[in-house]
Amino acid sequence: MIITIDGPAGSGKSTAARKLAAHLEIPYLDTGAMYRAIAHLALEEGVSIDDHDALVQLAESADLWLDCGPTHTRVKANGHDISEAIRTMAVSQVTSPIARIPEIRRILVEKQRSIGRQLGSFVTEGRDQGSVVFKDLADVRFVVDADLEKRAERRYQELIADGEDVSMDDVRENLNTRDANDCKQWAPLLEPGQSIKIDTTNMSLSEVVDCLECHVRESVGA
Ligand code: DC
Repeated sequence: MIITIDGPAGSGKSTAARKLAAHLEIPYLDTGAMYRAIAHLALEEGVSIDDHDALVQLAESADLWLDCGPTHTRVKANGHDISEAIRTMAVSQVTSPIARIPEIRRILVEKQRSIGRQLGSFVTEGRDQGSVVFKDLADVRFVVDADLEKRAERRYQELIADGEDVSMDDVRENLNTRDANDCKQWAPLLEPGQSIKIDTTNMSLSEVVDCLECHVRESVGA
């Protein structure tokens, strides 16, 4: 069974996807972590985000490894565990422009499909999972969203909990910029029929997870 959850940053998709995977006892594939890993490598190696050729080369040669457990994701790049390092604001800021480079998307989409083949059944989340990457394979496709203020608040709480020194204004501005960049790539995912759209603005995490699980069980007749 393949379940895709797409949506913008802070829509609640990552936490909900992890919880849903844990409830269904199947792995969880965090595709944003893969784009973040390339951004982290670019920062570490001092590659400019304007140098597309160098970024593509970095992505081509990166030895990315993901451990997709139902309750955790560990990410290694070139042998180093970068699971925590990819979650900082600095990485978030450069991930979005890097994720717009078509060659980098092609490399990571191929990698996502290969991981998907190995996993068999899984919950995957990102922006293009139901519309592009697993378009012909997904059993249930979700698109989740929430209004900007709510998304900024969630992201702010996450960063504070991780010990980041950020203000709510920084987070709001960062999300605004990422939305403007990201919508160019993920807007088409709103097109496909069959996707179930959920506005999580006024929902708690457990309500979101219950709602997703309910739709999944309905769809697969469980
Ligand atoms: O979901 P996230 O915040 O970890 O995503 C990080 C960035 O990567 C964000 O700018 C969107 C982008 N992304 C993407 O373009 N395609 C995906 N499948 C997943 C994430």
